[in-house]
Amino acid sequence: MNKRLFLSTSAVAVSVLCAGAALAAEPFKIGLILPMTGQQASTGRQIEAAARLYMAQNGDTVAGRKVELIVKDDTSVPDVTKRIAQELVVNDKVNVLAGFGITPSALATAPIATQSKTPQVVMAAATSSITQASPYIVRTSFTLPQASVSMADWAPKNGIKKVVTLVSDYGPGIDAEKFFKDRFMFNGGTVVESLRVPLRNPDFAPFLQKVRDAKPDGLFVFVPSGAGAAVMKQFLERGMDKAGIKLIGTGDITDDDQLNDMGDGAIGVVTSHHYSASHDSAANKKFVEAFQKANKGMRPNFMAVGGYDGMRVIYEALKTTKGQGGGDALLAAMKGQLFESPRGPMFIDAQTRDVVQNIYLRKVEKVNGQLYNQEFDVIKDVKDPGKTR
Ligand code: DHB
Repeated sequence: MNKRLFLSTSAVAVSVLCAGAALAAEPFKIGLILPMTGQQASTGRQIEAAARLYMAQNGDTVAGRKVELIVKDDTSVPDVTKRIAQELVVNDKVNVLAGFGITPSALATAPIATQSKTPQVVMAAATSSITQASPYIVRTSFTLPQASVSMADWAPKNGIKKVVTLVSDYGPGIDAEKFFKDRFMFNGGTVVESLRVPLRNPDFAPFLQKVRDAKPDGLFVFVPSGAGAAVMKQFLERGMDKAGIKLIGTGDITDDDQLNDMGDGAIGVVTSHHYSASHDSAANKKFVEAFQKANKGMRPNFMAVGGYDGMRVIYEALKTTKGQGGGDALLAAMKGQLFESPRGPMFIDAQTRDVVQNIYLRKVEKVNGQLYNQEFDVIKDVKDPGKTR
């Protein structure tokens, strides 16, 4: 072999080796699409903080693969979510799509997940039907039917027999209204009026006036995370509590992100939900402490826990696939995960790819000078009631 040929062959060998090394070092990319600005910005802030905390606690290398988080702001406009998802898949070649602050954003992305065989981890949005929009969707948040049905069982046993419902007029609100109403009526209750308010820039005043006039025992409310404080304020300003109307709802209304600023008027409000920052477990205490430490005292809410657990589901799937991370293999490794979350035990149902979890009844109380949703009852291992129909 002449010297020149030898040199060029070894150069090829070296470059092949380098290409191999480059491939192995290719980072595992998670495209985290969240509303970081606009009406749903608190959801983005909470989930991003939780995802970063998870990575800080568990390292950014999994099964020899460096994990890279790419955070994008979709301003909670579904067309923007879809465009970003497309760019992340095509240009950035992300291995997983995650986040999704509202239902329309999750639904807009579903066809992209399906076409590109990319797992889509829904960390926030909570309309029951979302998991049916793509076989690549896995959910780590909750569903509105899950939370609403438990409230419909509790209320009539506690003197609340005549109710008005008030929900945001889109997927999760319509789920909450329907599943609360059906179960409440089955339990002997009466729903005298069902009101729907627009998702964008809602003015609750005229709706609350109607509620006052209807004189129900209770007002059942669903509004998305971030809107609860406005409802609470107007409810109290109108003296509706003093008029004997009990405010009830899913825990979105007494959102831990805002609760402590709602004032003592919120004390006594009963809600049903899957997570409270005051959930009494060692895992949750550790989570809340670390989250607050890393985020200037910000209290984690149910969005944060959805983001934190979503990262767990992704990390464990990457471990199971030994760092390979193909879409179908990752998805298979996400299905059936069972673990202790800060919320309590949590299970990703392999059939539905939806979360099975405890739903707690909670009452707002003052603890050490701060308002918390104090859990006083639990309905264990609740599957999404929306899936059985
Ligand atoms: C959804 C958004 C929320 O902020 C929430 O609290 C529940 C559901 C949604 O759009 O699915």
